[in-house]
Amino acid sequence: MTIWFGGDYNPEQWDESVWREDVALMQQAGVSMVTIGVFSWAMLEPQEGTFTFEWLDRVMDTLHAAGIRVDLATATASPPSWLSHRYPESLPVTENGVRLQRGSRQHYCPSSPDYRRLATRLAGEIACRYGDHPALEMWHINNEYGCHVSRCYCETSAAAFRNWLIAKYGTIDALNRSWGTAFWSQRYGAFEEVTVPSAAPVFRNPTQLLDFDRFSSDELLGILREEVAAVRTSSDTVPITTNFMGFFKPLDYWAWAAELDVISDDCYPDPDDPDAAYLAAMTRDLMRSLADGKPWLVMEQSVGAVTWRTSNAAKPEGMMRAWSYQAIARGADGVLFFQWRQSERGAERFLPAMVPHTGTDSVSWKAIRALGAELGKLGGQLEAATPGSVGIMLDWDAWWGIEQSGLPSTIDYMEGVRAWYRTLYDLGASIDFVNPRSDLGRYTAVIVPTLFVATGEALGALGAYAEAGGRLLVGYQSGITDEEGRLTPGGYLGSLSETLGLRIDEFFPLPVPGSVATDSVRLRANDLGVRDATGSVWSERLVVTDAEVLARFATGPLEGGAAITRRAVGAGHAWYVATLPDSWLRARLVAQLVADTSALTEAVAVTGVEVVRRGRHRFVINQTASPLTVPVAGHALALDPYGVVVLDGDEVWRR
Ligand code: GAL
Repeated sequence: MTIWFGGDYNPEQWDESVWREDVALMQQAGVSMVTIGVFSWAMLEPQEGTFTFEWLDRVMDTLHAAGIRVDLATATASPPSWLSHRYPESLPVTENGVRLQRGSRQHYCPSSPDYRRLATRLAGEIACRYGDHPALEMWHINNEYGCHVSRCYCETSAAAFRNWLIAKYGTIDALNRSWGTAFWSQRYGAFEEVTVPSAAPVFRNPTQLLDFDRFSSDELLGILREEVAAVRTSSDTVPITTNFMGFFKPLDYWAWAAELDVISDDCYPDPDDPDAAYLAAMTRDLMRSLADGKPWLVMEQSVGAVTWRTSNAAKPEGMMRAWSYQAIARGADGVLFFQWRQSERGAERFLPAMVPHTGTDSVSWKAIRALGAELGKLGGQLEAATPGSVGIMLDWDAWWGIEQSGLPSTIDYMEGVRAWYRTLYDLGASIDFVNPRSDLGRYTAVIVPTLFVATGEALGALGAYAEAGGRLLVGYQSGITDEEGRLTPGGYLGSLSETLGLRIDEFFPLPVPGSVATDSVRLRANDLGVRDATGSVWSERLVVTDAEVLARFATGPLEGGAAITRRAVGAGHAWYVATLPDSWLRARLVAQLVADTSALTEAVAVTGVEVVRRGRHRFVINQTASPLTVPVAGHALALDPYGVVVLDGDEVWRR
């Protein structure tokens, strides 16, 4: 298989004389694929209905002649100024009623019929012109859907939301029941009265908010579907992708992934962040999980610094290579960059590129060339991605639900996901993300950090997984509401109450960091081999009916009460964790969870080093700025700072 290597190429920013140099340099760097046309709408359709494809023909032909494949965009990410000028209602409106203007990008309302009509037509025209072009490798629909505008509160969006609600509920009575509008006199007499949840005096209706989140994710997905349909009228087999943005709250990527042939991701960890390596690994594992056996790519990463953080750290030498291998180890079939050649003008002119402003006599160009050459050799040998053996549950309904206001506490959904992922990562486990509809039977263990919104089926499936021999760990604030936001009757948890052998008597949320009270609680966890353990974020009074208590609260109003439990369920076990344990205690728990299983495929002997298996290859990656020596497969591997060693079986293939 080819490991795709290349980046976003924006030739329209340059004189044609530069294109020839571009292609020569691409060949030098081993570039195998470029993404073109992402922001080309104004150049391809300078006036409504007038298409100017000739320049793109020349780009496509030139790339083809050089043997470079093309990920061709439908060019719909940034509407041209004539569109916003002629159809001002296509501009999006914020929660506070401000209409966003052109002059930047992604300035469109996802429900705008004018934007959708014109975007779909352009996608169709491009597909018709290039569907049979020999350089075409895949279709790149739009770009980073929802990155800047994922929710629109204009009248058009409100009308679209009403239609979505009519399709969902059928009658206004059904909506009133589901949304609980008997509360605060919110009852609607007709669908015409319902609107989007714009800024309001205080807490808005939680089910309206949840439905609006679902609608907004669906609405953008609707544009993707329309563009895909337009492309498919003249190109029915070329694979289709759109670039995701990791753990992106506004879009339910489980639903999106189902529409794509290739999953791709834009991943920009902060080089200054000491947690960057594990956060990036987590994103790679999410993409492999979303792909579920299909190919996935890093569509964009940066060569060095970015320009959109408050301060933008450059990547130390080696980091770009280490992070590229990290993605490949975790299943990526390509690493591409934003962008090929550094712009001289425009809002991203300082953003480094494969060909930097300083030219080819630069450290970064040499690193790009070297990486391209290595990946060219590795490509022929690489096997398919290796799936994970521990599942972490990730669910957008739960994410949207638990981050509303008017709840018992302010909980950051991703904090729990990150914490459990980190513990598994540090232990060298191979990790997949799963959702409530996944086949959990594939996993040795499943961790549910929190599943605030949960259907009865989801709770039942977790119980059935444990019954059948699974090792299930459930965190606090799971099974709290159903999919309508209604509190799960009978004191929360639903059928999990029986699975876990306990019920919740009362919530005792812990103070959020920075508040007057101390934000952690001490735990007595001697049975887990940890002294002086602490928990944060959450605590609650549990009534344990049939479970072993592994840890108890040791301070505060719940002193002596159960904090962590375990119960034998059918052929398996179920743990419940009523707080966010500190990292030591999480490590003990995870060790217990995966004990006697093969979930820990690679014991990580040295902190800061990832050892990841992909087929017969093993990737040993030093994610630190220090040289390290790591024992793997009988070798004492000396790794440079950010050094990478690839093993083929037990033999060193490349260092
Ligand atoms: C991405 C985007 C690119 C470019 C890049 C800069 O969000 O898709 O077009 O803006 O970031 O980091």
